[in-house]
Formats: sequence, C-alpha cells, structure tokens
Amino acid sequence: MASSSSTLLLFGATGDLAKRMLLPSLYALHEDGLIAEDLRIFGTARSELSDGEYREIAREALEEYLPEDRKDEAKIGSFLGHLQYQPLDASTIEGFDHLAEKLGDISGGLSIFLSTAPFLFEPTIRGLQSAGLAGDNVRIGLEKPLGNDLASSRVINDAVASAFDEDRIFRIDHYLGKETVQNLMALRFANAMFEPLWNAQGIDHVQITVSETVGLEGRHGFYDETGALRDMVQNHMLQLLALIAMEPPADFDSTSVRDEKVKVLRCLRAVGADEMVRGQYASGAVKGEAVKAYAEDLGEPSETETFVALKAHVDNWRWQGVPFYLRTGKRMTERRSEIVIQFKPVPHNIFAQRGGKLLANRLVIRLQPEEYVRLMVMAKEPGMDRDGVSLREVPLDLSLTQAFSKARRRIAYERLLLDLIDGDPTLFVRRDEVEAQWKWVDAIRNVWSENDMLPKPYGSGSWGPSSAVALTERDGVTWHE
Ligand code: BG6
Repeated sequence: MASSSSTLLLFGATGDLAKRMLLPSLYALHEDGLIAEDLRIFGTARSELSDGEYREIAREALEEYLPEDRKDEAKIGSFLGHLQYQPLDASTIEGFDHLAEKLGDISGGLSIFLSTAPFLFEPTIRGLQSAGLAGDNVRIGLEKPLGNDLASSRVINDAVASAFDEDRIFRIDHYLGKETVQNLMALRFANAMFEPLWNAQGIDHVQITVSETVGLEGRHGFYDETGALRDMVQNHMLQLLALIAMEPPADFDSTSVRDEKVKVLRCLRAVGADEMVRGQYASGAVKGEAVKAYAEDLGEPSETETFVALKAHVDNWRWQGVPFYLRTGKRMTERRSEIVIQFKPVPHNIFAQRGGKLLANRLVIRLQPEEYVRLMVMAKEPGMDRDGVSLREVPLDLSLTQAFSKARRRIAYERLLLDLIDGDPTLFVRRDEVEAQWKWVDAIRNVWSENDMLPKPYGSGSWGPSSAVALTERDGVTWHE
C-alpha cells in the first residue's frame, strides 16, 4: 500500500460538506487514534481567516454536528491543534504560491480533498500544478459533481489527468464509504451459500430503492440543474448495482475490484422509453407534516425530476433476463436505502395438494437507516395440520447493528478520508467507471428529450407516481414496501 500523507489540504474548508461531514470525520479519526499525531490539516477557502478564526469555525461545526456523548473538550482542543488555514482565490495563480508557502515542507506526502464548485476544478488543478503541489507524492480526492454529462465529465477528468496520474486521483462516491455498502462484498464473497444462486438461474429480479424524505434542502440551483437521475442514479445507485452484479474479483485489491465493477457498468443495456418513470413531488405530508410542492420550494415551475424509476438490464451471461428495478426520490414515504434480491420459486411445490402456498425466498439488504440482512424463508406454522399444510414466510434476521453493537457507526467520510490519507483507492471510483456511468445516463436523458418525457407529479409522502408501480406490476413484480 502507498504511504500515508503527513499533510491534508481541504478545499472548500468553510463549506457545508466540510462542516457537516469532513471536520466531524477527521475529529473521529483523531479521537480513535487513526491519524498520525503529527498530521497537519490545512483548510482553504475564499474567506480571509486566520488559523485561530478557522479553528473557531471548526469548533462550532463540531459543537453542532457531533453527538453529545462524543464532545470531549480535551480531544476537541488537541484536534483543533492540527488545523491551519490559508485564504485562497482559486482563480489566481498567485494565491497558490501563497498556499504552497503556507504548506511548507510536503515531502511527507500531501493529500488534497477538493470540495468546491465544479467550475473551480480546472483553475484549481492549474494552480496546484504551477505552485508545485501536484508532484508524485500528492494525491487528490474529488467530490461530486464531476460534470453533468459524459462530455463535461471528460473535460474535468482530462484537466485532472494533465496534473495527476489516475492512481493518484480519488473520485468520491460517499456511498462506497458506508459500512453497509462495503458489507455487500462481504456478504457475497465471504459466504458460500449465496454465490451459487447469484445469477439468472437463481434470481428472478433485483430491486434497489434509495428513498428520502427530505426535499430541496436549500440546494435550489444545483438540484434543479441536476435532478434525481444525475444526483443519485448516475453515481450511488449504479455503484450499488455494480457491487451486486459484479463477478467475484480475484482479490480485494483496488484494481481487481474496480475492473469487475466497470465490466458490469459497460454491460448495462440502454433503457427503453417504456422502462422508465420520471416524477416530481407535489404538495403532501411527509411523516405527518405538510410540505410544499417542488415548484413552490423552488419558487418557479420546473421540469426537473425529483424521482426516477427504471428497469435496467445487465447484458451478460450471469444476468440475462434478470431485471434490476431502480427507484429513488425526494419527499417519499420514508428514508430507506435497500436492496432486495428476489429469488426464483422452488421448481415444484410438494405441499400444493395439501393447500400449502409458497413464496419464493427474498433477501432484503437494508443499508440505512437500519442496517440488516434479512432472508425471507418459508416455514411450517405450528399445528396439527389435519386440514392441510399451513406455511408462512418468516424472516431469518441478521441485525448488523446488534451483531456489532460495540462498534460505533461511522459516517462514510471517515473511511474515505482515511483511505485518501493512506492512499488506498479501492473505495473510490475510477475514470472508466465514471464514464461508463455517464454514458448510460446520457442515453436515458436523450430518450427523455426525444420523447418529451416530463416528470409526473406524485404526492409528497408517497412512493412516487403510480406509473412507477405500473412499471413493475406489468412484469408481475411488486415493489418491496
Ligand atoms: C448526495 C445527493 O450525493 O446523496 C443528495 O446529492 C442526497 O441529494 C444524498 O440527499 C443522500 O446521501 P445519504 O448518505 O443521506 O443517503
């Protein structure tokens, strides 16, 4: 493995992501002794702040976002001691020279985390390069959005590639940092019982749901430009699909894992117009609270989708004829990220003559908010059964939260920041993966524009437009709810 960097540089250090996620994650790593005592953490952003003023901002962020039981004055104080700050106008080259001066000796390796507006990516890369901050011992983490289609993502990727080799580029998809998402690989490849059935012979279909109850959350401009397809499907949901559908990699090495994922992404069949549904939330009630329609939240009418449902196909031997139903949306009934593997029924029901009805096995992998793996199996109901056999579906439950009750549930950025500092790219997205994802998503958007497909309204607090239900029902499939 690459060696750990002794300096971390955060761009966008006063932004929302830094306050909500990055600083609390770094604090957690410090708290658990996972980062070196002498790691130097530099923040940079436009605001003119001194080191002390930045530490105050960081302290307030920790105060706001850390759980009460983890606020330890002494530890917070020693964490803040790692932090320094340098103001930067990323559109000027001189700014980067000052930044390099402030960083001083980076011979121990530098990890950069770029969480800025996409239009700043190119000038930032140029600035870093001209200030000597893109050498062989520097790696760069890039937060999304990395473009909004294949062409624009290529421009960004080209700009980054002009200064950094691919093995020093860490593209972030925070879903990969989630413990439960990493657990998908453990479930599949550390257990013997699933893999023999994990194919078109054993599996009828797969469902992936990422539903949210939140709405725009103040991100008006960004979200309305982006929509659910590009905000959630292009990245997080396709990564989940790839982890479910990939072939077993030879080992848990970044190249092996990413090679297998990209093969799946390249096998995705173009989605037909009758295989997708766009939706936009109308007013309604979420968890008992009245909420406004998207257009009202936005302040103007819009044709952006806040919901999308799709029927995807992976065109290879393993998955021929197995639909992958994907759906995601804002302002839905509940927050839930879940994968459902619906197995095929048994070939012959020996209980049929005695009235025993069978349901095919189903594996439910709940990623959040609860974390569990639940295998639905058929069992005989207790009783003497003089009139026939009574069978019922019962869950074989594995609650990960209970099984690992001593382990603190970490936020995704803890893992990703640590891997960036350590130089392990396994949980980051390679350029060929991102491009395969965009290619598939661009084709979907073309179908939308060719067919004038506008989003259909759905009541806030529902599971999306009724056509999303019809999408699966016509295949005899019901969304898992
Ligand atoms: C982000 C999207 O990438 O993921 C947001 O931009 C979305 O719109 C978020 O809310 C969901 O992440 P999580 O971790 O809350 O499921």
